Amino acid sequence: MRFGVLVSGSGSNLQAILDAEKRGELGPGKIAVVLSNVPSALALERAARAGVPTEIVDHKVVRDRAVFDQALVAALGKHDVDWVVLAGFMRLVGAGFLQAFGGRVVNIHPALLPAFPGMHGARQALEYGVRIAGCTVHFVDEGCDTGPIIAQRAVAVHEGDDEAALQARIQVEEHRLFPAVLRAIADGRVSRQGRRVAITGDVLRFGHVD
Ligand code: GRF
Repeated sequence: MRFGVLVSGSGSNLQAILDAEKRGELGPGKIAVVLSNVPSALALERAARAGVPTEIVDHKVVRDRAVFDQALVAALGKHDVDWVVLAGFMRLVGAGFLQAFGGRVVNIHPALLPAFPGMHGARQALEYGVRIAGCTVHFVDEGCDTGPIIAQRAVAVHEGDDEAALQARIQVEEHRLFPAVLRAIADGRVSRQGRRVAITGDVLRFGHVD
C-alpha cells in the first residue's frame, strides 16, 4: 500500500507518519513520496532526511486549477501511489484529482468536523467558546473539509488557552490519530458506505478530554 503525502508547511504530521513507518507501525503501508506545492516547505526537508523521494508542484507556477490537479496526479503516478494523504496541504483538490484516485484521498483537520472547517479550526473553536475541541481525519470530497469522517479525537479547551496553546494540544492528538488511521487503511480495515465509514479494530476513535 503506497501512500503519497501532500504538504504545504512545517510537516509535523508528516514527521509523525514517517516516525510511525520507521517503527513498523504502518504495517504494509509505505510512504512512497512527499509532494509539496510550496518549494520552501520544511516538510520537504523532513522527507529528504527520512530518505523519501520528494516532488514539487508549485501552484504559483501552475496556476490553472485543472492543470495543477493533473500535475499532482502525474507526479504521484511516478511513484505508483495508491492512497493520497493530505497533511497540512493548503490547496483544494478538484474532481479530476479525486477521480484519478478513486476517492482514496484523506485529510486531517484541527477541529471536530463538521464544526469549524477551513483554515483556522483551532482559532474558530476558541473564539466560539467550545469546551471540547479536537481533530478529524476524513475522506476528501470537492468541498472544504466536508467529506465523510473516518476518526476523531477530542481535546479539552483549558481556561486561558490561546490559539497556539490549543493548537499545540490538538497537534499532539493529530500525531497519534493520523498514523493510526493510515495503519487501518493499509490493513484494509476501513470501509465506506455513503457518509458512514466503518473501521474494524482499534483506531483511537475518541481521546482524552481532561
Ligand atoms: C494541521 O494542524 C492539520 O490539521 C491542518 O494543517 C496543519 C498542518 O500542520 N490541516 P503540520 O504541517 O503537519 O505541522
